[in-house]
Amino acid sequence: MTVELSTRIILTRLVAADPEAIAAAARCLAAGGLVAFPTETVYGLGADAHNGQAVARLYEAKGRPGFNPLIAHVPDAAAARGLAHFEEAAARLAEAFWPGPLTLVLPKLPGCQVSELATAGLKSIALRVPDHPVARDLLLAFGRAIVAPSANRSGHVSPTTAAHVLADLRGRIDLIIDGGATPVGIESTIVACLGEPTLLRPGGISRSEIERVLGAKVADAASQPGEGEAPLAPGQLASHYAPRTHMRLDATQVIAGEALLGFGPKLPPGADNAAVILNLSHSGSLIEAAANLFSHLRRLDAAGASTIAVVPLPHHGLGEAINDRLQRAAAPR
Ligand code: TXA
Ligand code: MG
Repeated sequence: MTVELSTRIILTRLVAADPEAIAAAARCLAAGGLVAFPTETVYGLGADAHNGQAVARLYEAKGRPGFNPLIAHVPDAAAARGLAHFEEAAARLAEAFWPGPLTLVLPKLPGCQVSELATAGLKSIALRVPDHPVARDLLLAFGRAIVAPSANRSGHVSPTTAAHVLADLRGRIDLIIDGGATPVGIESTIVACLGEPTLLRPGGISRSEIERVLGAKVADAASQPGEGEAPLAPGQLASHYAPRTHMRLDATQVIAGEALLGFGPKLPPGADNAAVILNLSHSGSLIEAAANLFSHLRRLDAAGASTIAVVPLPHHGLGEAINDRLQRAAAPR
């Protein structure tokens, strides 16, 4: 009797970011391969946006439930304009924040050749111009759009280092370009411009920065889609960024033996009895906290405590995105 493996084990190469690695990565993508690469937000798992088979492999490698639509990454706004329609609000946001941690969901142009599988058959497409030299060089070398979800197994926290990617996807993808830790550390902000500009996911650019450029409040997507309902942005599934360890948010004191995720110079009472403590930012910087969030969650998850206690974090600026990811990480599964 033969046993069929659903997923072929492949050799995953890890290479330092240099011109040779970029050229090899572009060849790999052109051949339908899967390449993980750094962006300023988190590591992405890239495939040729025009190659439906490569996109199918990408879903399989991530173990994604269903075919959630992917973000197409392009080197500049001109390339984005070849794929989607920009109304005035979209043009203003692109002008203000690209390259950078903003994804725009826009009406697909009729001639858009991005695989229907990558856009999950929607009439819209998510586009982003990343602000990271490795991502930009790869996009320029490849010469076409690259679809890239975060380079983690579905349901795991997003990777901010090449080591995180390797831990999740070794044997499932072809190549990882190591460009060091990602500076922003939290995924891009997603704004749909399909009518009234709507915030689909808080992220690396704060709501107030978006509203300043729009000169108006941004609408909120119905944040919790009902059971069985297709979410507008599946990043909004309640449980999505999930450590295995139980999480307790807004902890104002620590129970002996808990792992503690702190923020700011003062730790809560009982911190002395924590099994392990990591601080998102001793100085209380939300920028530093975002950059540390996912790697600290991974380290605390690996510490083997029964619970990760998380101190309350401010909600302003990047605090909105950080609290959003913490709530998803803590959601019951
Ligand atoms: O920072 C980031 O955005 C990273 C880096 C790698 O660029 N990427 C990332 O991709 O976070 P992913 O796949 O983990 O999250 C993309 C989100 C998903 O929630 C997806 O549903 C949503 O974008 N999305 C994509 N296309 C969409 C569309 N047409 N309409 C609504 N949501 C869409
Ligand atoms: Mg993701």
